[in-house]
Amino acid sequence: MQSLWLDTAPAITSDTFVPGNSYDTVVVGAGLTGLTTALLLARQGQRVAVLEARKTGAVTTGNTTAKISLLQGTVISSVARHHNTGTAAAYVDANRRGQEWLLRFCTEAGVHYEVRDAWTYAVTEAGASSLAEERDACLAAGLPVQSMTETELPFAVRAALKLPGQAQFHPLEALAALAREIRQHTGVIVEGVRVTEVHHTPEGKVRVDTADGSIEAGTVVLATGIPILDRGGYFAVVKPLRSYAAAFPVTGEVPTGMYLSVDQPARSLRTASVDGTQYLVSGGNGHPVGRASHTRDRVTDLFRWTQEHFNVAEARYDWSAQDYGPASAVPYVGELPLLGKNIYAATGFNKWGMTNAVAAALSLAAKILGEPDPSQDLYKAKISVPDAMSTVKDNAEVGLQMISGWAGGLARTADSVPSEGLGVVVREGGTPVAVCTVNGVTTRRSAICPHLHGILNWNDAEASWDCPLHGSRFTATGEVLEGPAVRGLDPA
Ligand SMILES: Cc1cc2nc3c(=O)[nH]c(=O)nc-3n(C[C@H](O)[C@H](O)[C@H](O)COP(=O)(O)OP(=O)(O)OC[C@H]3O[C@@H](n4cnc5c(N)ncnc54)[C@H](O)[C@@H]3O)c2cc1C
Ligand code: FES
Repeated sequence: MQSLWLDTAPAITSDTFVPGNSYDTVVVGAGLTGLTTALLLARQGQRVAVLEARKTGAVTTGNTTAKISLLQGTVISSVARHHNTGTAAAYVDANRRGQEWLLRFCTEAGVHYEVRDAWTYAVTEAGASSLAEERDACLAAGLPVQSMTETELPFAVRAALKLPGQAQFHPLEALAALAREIRQHTGVIVEGVRVTEVHHTPEGKVRVDTADGSIEAGTVVLATGIPILDRGGYFAVVKPLRSYAAAFPVTGEVPTGMYLSVDQPARSLRTASVDGTQYLVSGGNGHPVGRASHTRDRVTDLFRWTQEHFNVAEARYDWSAQDYGPASAVPYVGELPLLGKNIYAATGFNKWGMTNAVAAALSLAAKILGEPDPSQDLYKAKISVPDAMSTVKDNAEVGLQMISGWAGGLARTADSVPSEGLGVVVREGGTPVAVCTVNGVTTRRSAICPHLHGILNWNDAEASWDCPLHGSRFTATGEVLEGPAVRGLDPA
C-alpha cells in the first residue's frame, strides 16, 4: 500500500548524522509537527537538528487526507462536553492560528493549496442529533457553521453542516518546502536514524541516543506521533486509531467540497489534482490499531462504497495510517510530565493534525524561545474525572487485550505455515511466536511487543504485526514501523 502523496512526493534529501554534535534543539520526527517546530526555531537563529527514523513524512503526515479544516466532524462538541465552551473556543482559536500559519507558509513558499467548503453530514437520526449538538458547540465557540440539508453528495442526507473557506493540499509538497527553509537557516534533517533514548546530562544538557551514536541538545522535542518515552505516560491517555484511504481517478462529476460523515463507518471525501490527474480521495473504516481481523476487507469495502456512489475508475492508490485520540479530547502539548525540564512532546491530534500540529508547533516554539504561548490555556486544560474514568476503562480494555493476546498465542500450536499474505501467533517452547508468509518467505519472530509486552496481531491489509495495546507496528520481518516501540521484534 502506498499513498498518493508519498508516491508523488518531491525529493527530500537527508543530511549526514554526525555523532557527538551539539545543537540548541533536537526535534525527533519529520512529520508536520516536527518540521514546523524546527522551522520556527531555526528562523529565530537556533541551531536545529531533526532526526527521522524512516523518511520525511513516512508515517501519518504522508498518509493523511490533508484537509486543512476548522470544521472537524464532532470534535468541537466533544471538547465542550469534556471541558466547557471556553476550552472549545480556545481549541478553535488554536486551530485557526495553525490553519492561518500553514496557509501563509504555503503562499510564501509557493506550495499549491485549494480553498474548499468543508462539510460534516449525517444520514441517520442519531447522526443528525450529534450534528445539532456540534452546530451549537461550533457557534458558541465562534465558528460560523451553516446548517444545510442539500449537499453535492449523490444520496440524501438528514442534516449537514458547512463551513466555507477551508483548504486542502498535497502534504508532502508542504513538508518539502518546510525542509528547504529549515536548511536555508542551517538546520539539518537526518533520515534513517531512530532515537532510542533521551537522558539529562550532569551538565544540564539532554543527550539523544540512537543506534548510530549520540548527540546533545539544550532542548529535545518528541514529534513522533505518540511520544516514544514511556516515562511521560502518554501511551495510557491516547488511543491509537487506524483507518484507510484510497485515491480514484475521476471519470465524471464528483463533489468538490471536503466531506466527513458523523455516522459509522466514517466516510471522508476530498478531491486532489496531482500530476494532471483528478482524483477522488475516499477514507474511513477505522478501528483501534491491532484490534481488527481481516483489515483487507475494510479496504475492499471502501472501494465498493466509493465506486457505488461516485464517478470514479478503479482505485490507483490505497493506504492506511493511524493517529492518536486523546482521552481529554484536547491534544497533549508541552513538557513531558515526570521527565524534568527541556523535553517536550505533542500528541493526540485525533485525525485533525494539519491544523493541530501547527498549533502545537507554535506553542512549543514559543515555550522553548521563552515567548508567550498563544495556546497556554488550551494545553493547560486538566483531565476531568469522567475522562480519567474513561482512561481507566480504556486501559482495562488494553489489559484485557493483553490477557487474551497471551492466552490466544499460548493456546495455538504451529502445525502448518500460514498461506501467502497471512500471519498467525503460535506457541513455540512456551512463548508466543509470530509466524507469517510474505512474498513466499515464512518468517518467525517473537510475538511480544518490545514496548510493554503486548501480543501482536497480524494486519493482512499491510502485511504487518500490530500491537493492540498502544499501537506499535512492525514489518513482517520485525522492524519497527511506528508507535512507541523503539526497537524491533526479538528472534523467535
Ligand atoms: C487516515 C488519516 C487521515 C487524516 N486526515 C486528516 C485530515 O484530513 N486533516 C487533518 O487535519 N488531519 C488529518 N489526519 C491527522 C494528521 O495526518 C496527523 O495528526 C498528523 O499528520 C500528525 O503529524 P505528526 O508530525 O505529529 O506525526 P507523523 O507524521 O507521524 O510524524 C512523526 C514522525 O516521527 C518519526 N519517529 C517516530 N519515532 C521515532 C524515533 N524513535 N526516532 C526518530 N523518528 C521517529 C516517524 O517515523 C514519523 O515520521 C489524518 C490522520 C489519519 C490517520
Ligand atoms: S505498543 Fe505498548 S505494548 Fe505494544
